[in-house]
Amino acid sequence: MMKIAPSILSADFCNLKHDIVLVEKAGVEYLHVDIMDGHFVPNITFGPKVVADIRKNTSLVLDCHLMIDNPEAYIKDFAQAGGDILTIHVESTRHIYRAVQLIRDNNVKAGIVLNPGTPLTAIEPVLPLVDQVLIMTVNPGFGGQAFIPEMVEKVRKLKEIKDLNDYAFDIEVDGGISDKTIGKCYEAGANVFVGGSYIYDADTPEQRIQSLKDAVAL
Ligand code: DX5
Ligand code: ZN
Repeated sequence: MMKIAPSILSADFCNLKHDIVLVEKAGVEYLHVDIMDGHFVPNITFGPKVVADIRKNTSLVLDCHLMIDNPEAYIKDFAQAGGDILTIHVESTRHIYRAVQLIRDNNVKAGIVLNPGTPLTAIEPVLPLVDQVLIMTVNPGFGGQAFIPEMVEKVRKLKEIKDLNDYAFDIEVDGGISDKTIGKCYEAGANVFVGGSYIYDADTPEQRIQSLKDAVAL
C-alpha cells in the first residue's frame, strides 16, 4: 500500500491547522511530524504538546520522526500525545532493541530510521520487531536539501532483505522527494514517501501531491 506523508517541517507553523487540512483534503494517508532537539540534529522544532494539539485537529496517521538523543525518555510522551508511528534513529541510542520494545509496549507502531552514512547491518537485529523502516535520503535536520541518489541502492537492498524474510514492514523514504526522485525510490521498493518542501513550498500543495501520486501511478 502506497502512502504519501507530507512533512509539516515546511508548513507555516502559524497556520499549521490550515496547512494540515489542506493536505488532508488532497487525500494523503500520513502526516509526517519531524521532532528535532538541537542535539541529535542541528535544528530544533517542537515537542509532545504540539503533537497533542495536532492530534486534536486531524485524523491522519501521525508519522512521528524523532531526531532526538535519548529517545527512550520521550517515547511515552509522544505516544500519549497521539503519535501513531514513532520512528527512532538507530544512531540516537545505545540500546536500539530495548527502545523499539519500549515503543511497542506503548501500543503504537514502531519505526526505525537510518542516516545516510549508517549501513543496513545496524538495524538487521530489530527488523522482526518494526512496522516501518525509514531510509533517510538526505542528512536529517533540514528541509529542502538535495536527494542523495546512492540511497536508492540502500532501499533496494532493504527490500531484498524484507522479501527474503517475509517481513511486513513499510519502507519509507525522507528527504529530497519530488516528482523527479519518487519514481526511483518506488521502483527500488519504497512504499511510504515523505514530501516537505516539494509539497509545501508551492502555491498549490494539492497539485504537488497529485504529481507525486502520478509519478508512481497511485
Ligand atoms: C529532514 C526531515 C524531513 C524534511 C524533508 O530532516 O526529516 O522530513 O521535512 O524535507 P524535504 O522533503 O524538503 O527534503
Ligand atoms: Zn522526517
